[in-house]
Amino acid sequence: MNIQKVSAIYFSPTGHTRELVKYIAESFASGVQFYNLTSYEQGVLQKSFSAEELVVLGVPVYGGRIPALAAERMAQLKGQQTPVIILVTYGNRDYEDALLELKTILEEKQFVVVGAAALVTEHSIVHEVGYDRPDKRDWRQIDEFVSQIKIKLDKAREGQALSPIHVKGNQPFRNYNGIPLKPKANKECVSCGFCARECPAHAIDPAHPRKTDKKRCISCMRCVTYCPQQARYVNKLLMKLVASKLKKSCSQRRENDFSV
Ligand SMILES: Cc1cc2nc3c(=O)[nH]c(=O)nc-3n(C[C@H](O)[C@H](O)[C@H](O)COP(=O)(O)O)c2cc1C
Repeated sequence: MNIQKVSAIYFSPTGHTRELVKYIAESFASGVQFYNLTSYEQGVLQKSFSAEELVVLGVPVYGGRIPALAAERMAQLKGQQTPVIILVTYGNRDYEDALLELKTILEEKQFVVVGAAALVTEHSIVHEVGYDRPDKRDWRQIDEFVSQIKIKLDKAREGQALSPIHVKGNQPFRNYNGIPLKPKANKECVSCGFCARECPAHAIDPAHPRKTDKKRCISCMRCVTYCPQQARYVNKLLMKLVASKLKKSCSQRRENDFSV
């Protein structure tokens, strides 16, 4: 296994996953090729990777699964015994079946998982949960994870068989049918269309950006996070309920999980 090129693939509506995928990919090489699955415009990524490439692929956890939209955009990926490092990021609640789901998808596409991690970040809906993660301790663990994978890849180059990766999770995967938090526009909205262009699900009409198609919306909070006017918001009462529930059940520090 002689790595010639490193690619980074991510679905990352509010940027936490992107940051971690970028950090890990750039720990292996400079000149990383990036592929952004978040973009509706870009759509499904049709790409084949060779055995001499390393891929780092990350997605967030939604309801203990990977976002269905991210899975759709990965549908045309092809590996040829391509080594891949898989990451799921989660907001200090749990990641349940998400890492196993991602591993299963990529192995079906002839990738070889050489490292897997579930990494805690700030929760993209309730920012107080997982606030300031990843912290120093997390970054140290991530550096150690990278070092172990480097050793593993060196040994593979010398002909040693790769150790199998075990991750937690159960099949059939748990059900996730979305959450009822659908952002709307407030009076500050100037109909600039930024949110419509950025929405991964194309749930906002570019001609009428104040309207959200609730069926398409995946509650990813990208529009709320990046609106230049800070004009997108979620129903305050619903948000209060979700925040109080999450703050209660997720007040304890959750740890990252790594498998090499
Ligand atoms: C719709 C939705 C569902 C989520 N579900 C979970 C979950 O099941 N467990 C968890 O710990 N965090 C959950 N989170 C938090 C995200 O997984 C976490 O903040 C992630 O890092 C966001 O990634 P991004 O910044 O790349 O978009 C959820 C966030 C959203 C928007």
